Amino acid sequence: TAAPDLAGRRVVISAGGTREAIDPVRFLGNHSSGKQGYALARTAAARGADVTLVAANVSLPDPAGARVVRVGSAVELAEAMEAERAGADAVVMSAAVADFRPVASAASKIKKSGAAPAPIELVENPDILAGLVASRDSERLEQTIVGFAAETDDVIANGRAKLARKGCDLLVVNQVGGGRAFGTEDNQAVVLGADGTAVDVPTGPKEDLADRIWDLVRRRLD
Ligand code: C5P
Repeated sequence: TAAPDLAGRRVVISAGGTREAIDPVRFLGNHSSGKQGYALARTAAARGADVTLVAANVSLPDPAGARVVRVGSAVELAEAMEAERAGADAVVMSAAVADFRPVASAASKIKKSGAAPAPIELVENPDILAGLVASRDSERLEQTIVGFAAETDDVIANGRAKLARKGCDLLVVNQVGGGRAFGTEDNQAVVLGADGTAVDVPTGPKEDLADRIWDLVRRRLD
C-alpha cells in the first residue's frame, strides 16, 4: 500500500473526451478512454488525497475514494474545472478536449434531404488549461497545474514549446502514433517541468505513470 503522502491535499483531475453536439443524437468526439485520468484519481486517493474527478463521457467504474462530476462538452468541462479548482493544491488536465465545436446544435435530428449536405460550421473552444493558469496567476493562487500533450515527433522540443505556451508547471508528453496510448492499458511519457526538468517514464501500467506524476506534484507542493 502507498504511503499517504498526499494526505491533506485536494486534487482535481479531468478525464475522458468531450463531445460537441451536432444535433440531439450526434456529436464530434474523440477516442479518449479516460483510463489515464482514472488511474490518476485512484492513485491520488490511495495516497490520501481528497480527489475530485471531472469525467467527460467515460464508461469506467467510479474510482474508489473519488468524488465524480460528470460533464459532456468542452464548455461544460471548462465550467466544472473553474468551479472545482477552488481550494485545490493541484489540477491535472488529462481530458482530451475538442478544439472546436459546432456553432449551434440543431434542435431536431438533421435529415437527409436529397440535396447536398449542409456544412457544419465550427467555432473554437476555450483552452481550459491555459485559462486555469491565467486565473491562477491573476488570483495569485498557490496551485500546481499539470497538462498533457500528445506528440508524434520532436517530442521534447514540441513539448517544451507547448509547456511554455500553456504556462502550466508540468506537461506529460506522450508519444503517439502506431497504436500507442488511446484505450491501451500501458502508457509511456516524458514529464517536462517548467523548471527545465525532464523525467522519462518507461512503458508500464497507467498507474505507474500516475504515481510518477504525483511524485513530481508532491515535490512541488512540499
Ligand atoms: O493544445 P493541446 O490540445 O495539445 O493541449 C493538450 C492539453 O491542453 C491537455 O492537458 C488538454 O486537457 C488541454 N486542453 C484544454 N482545452 C482545450 C484543449 C486542450 O484544456 N481546448
